[in-house]
Amino acid sequence: MLNELFHTVRFGSVGMFCQSARLNQVPASIIVGTQWGDEGKGRFADLLAKDMSMVVRYQGGHNAGHTLVVDGEKFALQLVPSGVLYDHITPVIGNGVVVDPFVLLAEMKTLTDRGVDCSRLKVSGNAHLIMPYHQQLDALQERHLGSAKLGTTKRGIGPAYADKALRVGIRVQDLLDESIFRKKIEAVLSHTNKILTKAFNRLPVDPDELADKVLEQCLEGLKPHIADTVDLVHNDLEAGKNILFEGAQATFLDIDHGTYPFVTSSNPTSGGACPGAGVGPKHIERVIGVAKAYVTRVGAGPFPTELFDEVGDHFVDVGHEYGTNTGRRRRTGWVDAVMLRHAVRLNGLTELAITKLDVLDMLDKVKICVAYDLDGEEVTKLPYHQSQVHKATPVYQEFSGWKTDLTSVKDPADLPAEAKTFLDALEEQVGVPIRYVSIGPSRKQYVDFGAV
Ligand code: IMP
Repeated sequence: MLNELFHTVRFGSVGMFCQSARLNQVPASIIVGTQWGDEGKGRFADLLAKDMSMVVRYQGGHNAGHTLVVDGEKFALQLVPSGVLYDHITPVIGNGVVVDPFVLLAEMKTLTDRGVDCSRLKVSGNAHLIMPYHQQLDALQERHLGSAKLGTTKRGIGPAYADKALRVGIRVQDLLDESIFRKKIEAVLSHTNKILTKAFNRLPVDPDELADKVLEQCLEGLKPHIADTVDLVHNDLEAGKNILFEGAQATFLDIDHGTYPFVTSSNPTSGGACPGAGVGPKHIERVIGVAKAYVTRVGAGPFPTELFDEVGDHFVDVGHEYGTNTGRRRRTGWVDAVMLRHAVRLNGLTELAITKLDVLDMLDKVKICVAYDLDGEEVTKLPYHQSQVHKATPVYQEFSGWKTDLTSVKDPADLPAEAKTFLDALEEQVGVPIRYVSIGPSRKQYVDFGAV
């Protein structure tokens, strides 16, 4: 019954009405990855940004890589929120993000050189800085772990969040007071240098040299962007404007809910937007979960539907599954509804955006993992004990492929019957309406099923 109602709304003109009515009533939305990252959040953040006054990143750092294709031009963003490409948007880096000031300035320069106006970018004074010693520690810790390494991006994310939790981190606002900045660098290095020299046999970092370098190379460029972003966010919310909170990484890389320890060091799940941007949950209405029509993962950790066959290679080759920043080949597998159902619960998803459906275009058969076989027992919920996730065997529902190029489809009604069957089955398995489906890398290559 609900499904029928949804389909009526989805395909009919009622959908258009609901969409505009809702947009006026919904102050804040969150977009989150529902798998292990690289789902294509950036392109939907970019799409949703049209109706927003502000796009706010709330966690992570330059371990993220968002690719947007606008009028055939490719933009790879790491720290700057996706909304930067719109003139009416204030892009905000929230307090929950860890910021490498050198990387941020380089990214802003690259964007500016390509004609993108970065002057509206705001960076929270409470965001923590990633310093060069964080990156050094990240690489050293990975090396120390040997075959047990996590496969981090080596961007210093974990060590920067660790310093934040230890309360020895350096915040963006510290740059504005030279004596505080120098004192804090000295304090943290009195400890970190012991780790570098005694545990890893490396040279110590000179606090004065580092402080000079950061202040000389970063202060002037960053100063105009440093702001009380909590105030900015609330001013817009109070004015009834729409805000988008943009998660980086994804649900199963969440430090609390992901496949620990093979996770990142922050909370990409939707709840992370509250502390990461300084808002209460009452402001959030839409939570859009982005899922690829298959699954990818970079780095180590369990992956029940991982493929080691020609279909897995097909996903890599046709889907160009190599890291945006690191260039690493991604692991690939069939879409996993067990994990997506769990992602719905963890994030309170209101709708789904399915990406890269076109990558499945030429396959004879397509599959959805609907359950796991655990020693002969079929389970439909994600086991809480991770050793069971490691040994889970996927149970698949199999469908005929559509063997049609979807890349120019605009209207949901023009999708081949087999593609609709696949999407309907996925929707039914996951229990949340599919609102958008992307069928190519460009901004215009997507299908909108209408308001949910
Ligand atoms: P870290 O965030 O660099 O510490 O890496 C921890 C884990 O998260 C590793 O498995 C990384 O490959 C993964 N990871 C971090 N950022 C991303 C991302 O943006 N996309 C996909 N995987 C990521």
